[in-house]
Amino acid sequence: MKKIVAINASPRKGWNTDMIVMEAAKGAESAGAYIKKTDLYKIEKFTGCISCFGCKREKNLGQCIYKDGLAPVLEEIRKADGLIIGSPNYLGDFSAAFRSLYERLVFQYITYNTEVQSYNDHRIPVLLIMTSNAPDDSYMELMNKYKAVFDSFIGPTEILAVGETMQVSDYSQFNWTMFNAEDRKVKQETVFPEQCRKAFEAGVRLAAE
Ligand SMILES: Cc1cc2nc3c(=O)[nH]c(=O)nc-3n(C[C@H](O)[C@H](O)[C@H](O)COP(=O)(O)O)c2cc1C
Repeated sequence: MKKIVAINASPRKGWNTDMIVMEAAKGAESAGAYIKKTDLYKIEKFTGCISCFGCKREKNLGQCIYKDGLAPVLEEIRKADGLIIGSPNYLGDFSAAFRSLYERLVFQYITYNTEVQSYNDHRIPVLLIMTSNAPDDSYMELMNKYKAVFDSFIGPTEILAVGETMQVSDYSQFNWTMFNAEDRKVKQETVFPEQCRKAFEAGVRLAAE
């Protein structure tokens, strides 16, 4: 049975990113995979890369050696057959928790050699998800930049952008004049289910790879 690691890099469990990640996970599960889900903001304290270069030393080449909350997550990804990872867009990028995992996951595999680029000999398919306030295609350049890195160091990566999400359940509680609350509600009821369906199908594809 294939093991897929699903990661929610949003602090809001049960909200947009988590829901889309869970749909993708359900898709993979429907195709026979076992899912190990992690909410990054609920695990033990962790940090991004601390630049110790332990992963570049002969005895642990390609392995992040820093022991904190991310260590077991990195270990699970190392043993997995696929990775689903979703994050909200925060200030034009992936969330800080996503970036910490990304730094540790990718940097351990970078060789700094011209002959061989990566220490990773267990490449796995990746589904990279970003939710945002902006329309779906707004962050394509950004997502493709991350996709290129995942493609090189983790495995073949599919991207899914889920824009114009409902950020709060009651917009009237905030003085947010740039949003049309009614429009967001309609999108939540009509477009979001379609995005969930796309995530589910991407999960099915991931498990089949
Ligand atoms: C700190 C913060 C920064 C944000 N920055 C952006 C941004 O730059 N662009 C954007 O489109 N949405 C931005 N958003 C909106 C979120 O990306 C969007 O609401 C997302 O779907 C929230 O995901 P969640 O429901 O899983 O928490 C921001 C939200 C927060 C809390």
